[in-house]
Amino acid sequence: MKVCVVGGGGREHALAHVLARTAEVVRARADPSGIDADLYVIGPEQPLVDGLADRLRSEGRLVFGPGADGARLEGSKVWMKQVLHDAGVPTARHGAFDREEPAVRFLRSLAAPYVVKTDGLAAGKGVLVTESVDEAVDDVRSKLVGASFGDAGRTVVIEEGLRGPELSVLAVCDGRRAVPLAPARDHKRLGEGDTGPNTGGMGAYSPVAEAGPELVEEVVERAVAPTLAALQRLDVDYRGVLYAGLMLTAEGPKVLEYNVRFGDPEAQVVLPRYAGDLAAFLAEAAAGHLTTEPTFIDDACVTVVLAACGYPVSAQTGDPISGVEEAEAVPGVTVFHAGAERGADGGLMTVGGRVLDVTALGADVGEARRRAYRAVDHISFSGMQYRGDIAASAAAPGRPETAKTAEVMW
Ligand code: AMP
Ligand code: GLY
Repeated sequence: MKVCVVGGGGREHALAHVLARTAEVVRARADPSGIDADLYVIGPEQPLVDGLADRLRSEGRLVFGPGADGARLEGSKVWMKQVLHDAGVPTARHGAFDREEPAVRFLRSLAAPYVVKTDGLAAGKGVLVTESVDEAVDDVRSKLVGASFGDAGRTVVIEEGLRGPELSVLAVCDGRRAVPLAPARDHKRLGEGDTGPNTGGMGAYSPVAEAGPELVEEVVERAVAPTLAALQRLDVDYRGVLYAGLMLTAEGPKVLEYNVRFGDPEAQVVLPRYAGDLAAFLAEAAAGHLTTEPTFIDDACVTVVLAACGYPVSAQTGDPISGVEEAEAVPGVTVFHAGAERGADGGLMTVGGRVLDVTALGADVGEARRRAYRAVDHISFSGMQYRGDIAASAAAPGRPETAKTAEVMW
């Protein structure tokens, strides 16, 4: 089978890497026109929201990725909240506003933490979570006037702040059925100890000890399956990944967001653990006939994102990168290229905010993590920033919940 992976980031590199075990893979950074393939796998959200899957399907192509109708789940948080409400899926209470005064009134009626989101796409950076109501009010103002996120922020969603650990459950859907992949945990904040601004993701790991099969089943039953059914009622034939970003609250898992594609960097830690033929599995979903039950190897996977100077506000680019070959010589390590490209001299250069995903498999999260950081030590570029605490709490020896649930880990 020949598979075309659309998109130029680390997630797409990971997809291509794992698909290449069983298929011939070509990559298209943006527009796949002119590439003849048996299956098209669309990585990023923007082309999905813009209707690329619809266009390819209208040409008779087999496509993994929802049409523009389903992609609205990620393209509009207001619409997503409406679908969740109609489907009875647990989520944070919210209000949507395009005027400042009622927005501020609603905000002041809530308790901390305060959560302000852009309605539209903002590359994972449009969410403010703060303990300060004044900061939240300022953020509402700058989003509504279009100063901080352009048109994506002219409507804001204000949410009740939830507390608890987060979890990403990615489910592969064929329009009617959703099958979950091994769960992962992403680290969204720029700084160690979960401080600083939200980013697209600074690292991830899988498995997640406290997310055994029972929890995943609960997420599918209470969130993913009802959402897919609600989409069906709206005549949306959703074929692709439905990614539930969850908060594990004291009242059970609640959906923070849906994404309509593989997570980045979750894909980098979930896909290397996939035990079967990924190309055949995604082709089944794309064709509307999912029969494969996905299985995962016991090894754990950890990825550490190396980001450019200035990320997430801006990104310094054009800097030479050294040490990737040495990094990949560490056992179990693969370095996925996100914002990195080969320059005229053949050397790797920085071209984006998240530059490299240093990814390691290991017998457990601790070993995978040690390998990933040993590999990171070989790599350098000007202004490189990364978190030193990716998967740290999951790898700490003697954590009681790790020991307790080890036998049900995915
Ligand atoms: P989102 O893009 O909607 O997933 O939001 C990005 C990040 O903001 C999430 O991963 C959470 O860390 C945080 N967040 C989003 N919504 C809430 C909420 N209602 N309460 C607390 N934190 C939130
Ligand atoms: N890791 C977060 C995302 O893919 O949106």
